Amino acid sequence: MTVPPFVEARRSIRALSSEPVPRDVLDDLVTAACLAPAPHHSRPWRWVVIDTPEGRHDLAHGMGEQWRADLTADGVPTGRIDELVAASTARLTAAPALVLGCLTWDGLDRYPDETRRRAEWGMALLSLGAAVENLMLAAADAGYASCWVAAPIFCPEAARTALALPADWSPTALVLVGRPADDVTPPPRPALPLDDLRTHR
Ligand SMILES: Cc1cc2nc3c(=O)[nH]c(=O)nc-3n(C[C@H](O)[C@H](O)[C@H](O)COP(=O)(O)O)c2cc1C
Repeated sequence: MTVPPFVEARRSIRALSSEPVPRDVLDDLVTAACLAPAPHHSRPWRWVVIDTPEGRHDLAHGMGEQWRADLTADGVPTGRIDELVAASTARLTAAPALVLGCLTWDGLDRYPDETRRRAEWGMALLSLGAAVENLMLAAADAGYASCWVAAPIFCPEAARTALALPADWSPTALVLVGRPADDVTPPPRPALPLDDLRTHR
């Protein structure tokens, strides 16, 4: 068996054309995301489709200010912080569409102890990863490029405040979506050392 071509086809594409992504396409991508497996029939995700300049600006600047504060506390020189935050802001504001995956406790089991609470939240997080992969596979299949951006998991409050989201939505995974820029070719995938990554028993 070889890897299915639709799995091979998905790559992280960071250079996007400015062509808008139709809302029905974005809805199809979110629908694909929502077909992911999730713990005990829950759907512990909420999706925010951000395809207006205002929305992109608000999210990019809200998260950018938190990142600036974190980098300042880390002792990173101001000039370097300016470069990093400007590059991140430019990337988010230039993408025609962003899809923000949030986690919620709605539908999850509640436990009195921290160990099981963490495990339950971990399951929700795993399911969000599966959902995001579905979304990116569906995007690639429809001829759209995508790239997962980690930022919101580091600053969920900043992202929630920037977009005025409900208090129980925890912004966790951000995906850039658009047509690939004309001249973009992703680098070849690194060789896969399967024998180092899996074992048999
Ligand atoms: C949880 C997660 C966070 C990621 N965050 C970023 C990110 O912040 N910026 C970025 O450019 N790529 C990000 N990526 C994309 C990875 O860099 C990319 O998947 C990896 O290099 C493999 O390349 P491929 O997706 O083209 O196969 C992230 C991927 C995952 C799964």
